[in-house]
Amino acid sequence: MALNWLIISLGVLFCVVSVSQGRQTIPNPPMRAVNLGGWLVTEGWIKPSLFDGIPNKDLLDGRGLQFKSVTTKKYLCAELGGGTIIVANRTSASSWETFTLWRINENTFNFRVFNKQFVGLNVKGNEIEVVAQSNTTTVSDVFHIVRNSNDSNRVRIKTSNGFYLQAKTEDLVTADHEEETSTWGDDDPSVFVMGFSGKLEGEFQVTNGYGPTRAPQVMRDHWETFIVEEDFKFISENGLNAVRIPVGWWIAKDPSPPRPYVGGSLTMLDKAFFWAQKYGLKVIIDLHAAPGSQNGFEHSSSRDGSIEWGKTDDTIHQTVDVIDFLTARYAKSPSLHAVELINEPLSPSVQLETLTKYYKAGYDAVRRHSSTAYVIFSNRLGNIDARELFTLASGLSRSVIDVHYYNLFSSTFENMTPQENIDFIYTNRTGDLGYVTTSNGPLTFVGEWVAEWGVKEATKEEYQRYAKAQLEVYKRASFGWAYWTLKNVNNHWSLEWMINNGYIKL
Ligand SMILES: *[C@@H]1O[C@H](CO)[C@@H](O)[C@H](O)[C@H]1NC(C)=O
Ligand SMILES: *[C@@H]1O[C@H](CO)[C@@H](O)[C@H](O)[C@H]1NC(C)=O
Ligand SMILES: *[C@@H]1O[C@H](CO)[C@@H](O)[C@H](O)[C@H]1NC(C)=O
Ligand SMILES: *[C@@H]1O[C@H](CO)[C@@H](O)[C@H](O)[C@H]1NC(C)=O
Repeated sequence: MALNWLIISLGVLFCVVSVSQGRQTIPNPPMRAVNLGGWLVTEGWIKPSLFDGIPNKDLLDGRGLQFKSVTTKKYLCAELGGGTIIVANRTSASSWETFTLWRINENTFNFRVFNKQFVGLNVKGNEIEVVAQSNTTTVSDVFHIVRNSNDSNRVRIKTSNGFYLQAKTEDLVTADHEEETSTWGDDDPSVFVMGFSGKLEGEFQVTNGYGPTRAPQVMRDHWETFIVEEDFKFISENGLNAVRIPVGWWIAKDPSPPRPYVGGSLTMLDKAFFWAQKYGLKVIIDLHAAPGSQNGFEHSSSRDGSIEWGKTDDTIHQTVDVIDFLTARYAKSPSLHAVELINEPLSPSVQLETLTKYYKAGYDAVRRHSSTAYVIFSNRLGNIDARELFTLASGLSRSVIDVHYYNLFSSTFENMTPQENIDFIYTNRTGDLGYVTTSNGPLTFVGEWVAEWGVKEATKEEYQRYAKAQLEVYKRASFGWAYWTLKNVNNHWSLEWMINNGYIKL
């Protein structure tokens, strides 16, 4: 598959006339793209059914659990958030009372506490006390969650030494309750009522959830059916000229990525390039999930919400290698239009200095293989100056800043009416985009937007006006825009649905 575009000439060539302005070469026409979200990087909310076959699918990596002792009537808590003992004396559950799962198999887990230590055991005198002191997992930090067959949220927690945790008193939690003494009643100190707080449904969760024997087939079936050649035809026939394809870092290790990831996504990206060329579309490769996760969200394949990317030089070198690999592989394809070095790094966890260092190295990696591919720098999420990458990007040819505009995920939009949302696009987004789109700076790309909002019951006509407003404003981005996303069970998030149902016309 990989070299198909070299050997098969389909005669359908997409012609990009470039226009020079200032230092930058502006693509003409600008990109009118759609994201292929939820395809090669899993997002559960885009296609929930992908998770249906996972046993104990409510106990995936990153799930937050809270345990209320039926005897003390109080919650288990990592005292001080971690670093010391586990107690059972909290009347309400919040961050210190939340235990985040690392799944070993459907019944077996490590529990991570607020300060990132793992729950384990510590022999102290005659007791085996339960603590959260270790930064790494060991064999004795493994726990089985045993669910009551009549009520799956009534649980007992079994340790690797065969005993069960019990809340002996409010400030003494031990691992010494024997199996046969259990009554499952409200007088049993080894029984807890389990509650949930937060979950992730990304690539790590789906592959680790199915496990090494089932995940390869499940993922292959998903990749082969979720996006097919017909979709590229649809895209090309509906006024779009490009696709932005989110990929995960493990794609560079295909066909044998480290567990739990499974091989095969590279073959699908090869196919995407083949179909893109056939239908005259451009491809923007978007590294959506970097090693360790750059934002803690499921769409960057975070295991448990942690952000490890950029904390060591190793994660940066590894990411540069992924960019090098991908650009080398597709540099000869006439469809390769741009490489986006990393998607949505989160401020302040990812520091500007770290990111700049990576962006310089990533830019050079692209340029080693291609002098024409655009290099896209995603702005950080968070409270930042939208021009913070200008110093870096302005001096580099074919550099692009990616900004994502959603009238969601912030209290600002909570009670806005349809008209207020539309006004916000014409006034505030025009201002935001104008601020980053300058005559001698980098190009600009609205790499993610959607005609969805916080409005509860809007009419079709209101959605149409909202979409139209965004199209009118975002077409001023000098590099172009990309809708999030092509397919989604949530209709307004599916550009395919929006086009087929007359909400959006391009
Ligand atoms: C665990 O990690 C924390 C934070 O990085 C560090 O301060 C602490 O010394 C580590 N503890 C051990 C036992 O290594
Ligand atoms: C489930 O409920 C039945 C009927 O009340 C009871 O006999 C059985 O012991 C219960 N099983 C467990 C595991 O609690
Ligand atoms: C819970 O128990 C610990 C250990 O005895 C104690 O330090 C802490 O103050 C207690 N917290 C509450 C809210 O009772
Ligand atoms: C949008 O821009 C207007 C005009 O500059 C300003 O008054 C308003 O506060 C902005 N709205 C929000 C929600 O930031």
